[in-house]
Amino acid sequence: GRLVYVFSQDFTVFGGSLAEGHAAKICKVMDLALRNGAPVIGLNDSGGARIQEAVDSLAGYGRIFYKNTMASGIIPQISAIMGPSAGGAVYSPALMDFIYMVDKEYAQMFITGPQVVKAVMGEEVTAMELGGAMTHNTKSGVAHFAEENDKAALDRIKELLAFFPQNSREKPPVAECTDDPDRKDKILNKAVPVNPKTPYDMRDVIRAVLDDRYFLEVQQHFAMNMVVGFGRLNGYSVGIIANQPRVLAGCLDINASVKCARFVRLCDAFNIPLVTFVDVPGYLPGVNQEFGGIIKHGAKILFAYSEATVPKITLVTR
Ligand code: HXC
Repeated sequence: GRLVYVFSQDFTVFGGSLAEGHAAKICKVMDLALRNGAPVIGLNDSGGARIQEAVDSLAGYGRIFYKNTMASGIIPQISAIMGPSAGGAVYSPALMDFIYMVDKEYAQMFITGPQVVKAVMGEEVTAMELGGAMTHNTKSGVAHFAEENDKAALDRIKELLAFFPQNSREKPPVAECTDDPDRKDKILNKAVPVNPKTPYDMRDVIRAVLDDRYFLEVQQHFAMNMVVGFGRLNGYSVGIIANQPRVLAGCLDINASVKCARFVRLCDAFNIPLVTFVDVPGYLPGVNQEFGGIIKHGAKILFAYSEATVPKITLVTR
């Protein structure tokens, strides 16, 4: 029942590759979305820059990337990867808020495909290993969701957008709440073990607190020591951030920091209040973490929380 703008690439025409006219159509849709303050959804299936068009194609990408950047934090931007997306085709999705990848079918994302990787680096890898849905959902953290097929991805996008306002000047929609806001949940009496060394699944606590125990987890396969996602409290959208004591004892490492900070900034941009569940021994010690820049990546969490002007509630569980 809400306005959205959609564009889709057609792989049957030049492999969905991006030419000047193709880019102009995407830009027009994005302009309309921004002007009318409504989300934009891109269905991606593209071989990247159309080789025959050379630099005109690259100029088209430049325009799209610029529009993605200008729209960032103003309207929700969602990408579904529904086929191979190579070269420049991966960067518009990367500038958007969420990437859905269709698993067990054809979705792939890479800058350079397996043949180029082999020729230049001598590394042998299949296209799915290099850029399939689970690679980007578990290893790189590029994608946020892996879905069974195209239809499931479209259904999940609708579910996600229900938590969001149409644009950054509006408040998120309030759902009718059928759950008693004063409901007491017996699970909470034993969900958190008394012994601080005993792990538990923080998602049990999160679900017990949210309306109808409904929690839409984002990036559930990546940096699992940090849990982020959406739920409702008395019908109001909330962004959930939580340490996960079941993974790495809930320590904050580089990936968890980046995941958390980006999520906090996104919620702040779209007026979604934050509820944080804390049970954390601290930042993860280690040579790899220090060399990888845990100082600068860890600082992103501090920056994001400090900058956020939405209501913030913290629940320290242990
Ligand atoms: C023109 C293209 C194309 C492209 C595919 N096609 N990619 N035509 N430009 N970039 C055409 C193919 O020639 C073929 O045409 C048809 O689309 C289907 O492609 P297939 O290769 O048969 O399909 P498949 O085996 O499924 O492989 C899909 C693919 C592969 C993985 C996407 O086509 C591929 O690797 N394409 C090139 C990727 C690439 O190098 N892109 C440019 C990157 S440079 P026919 O007529 O035979 O059916 C770039 C720079 C951006 O993007 C920089 C921005 C910062």
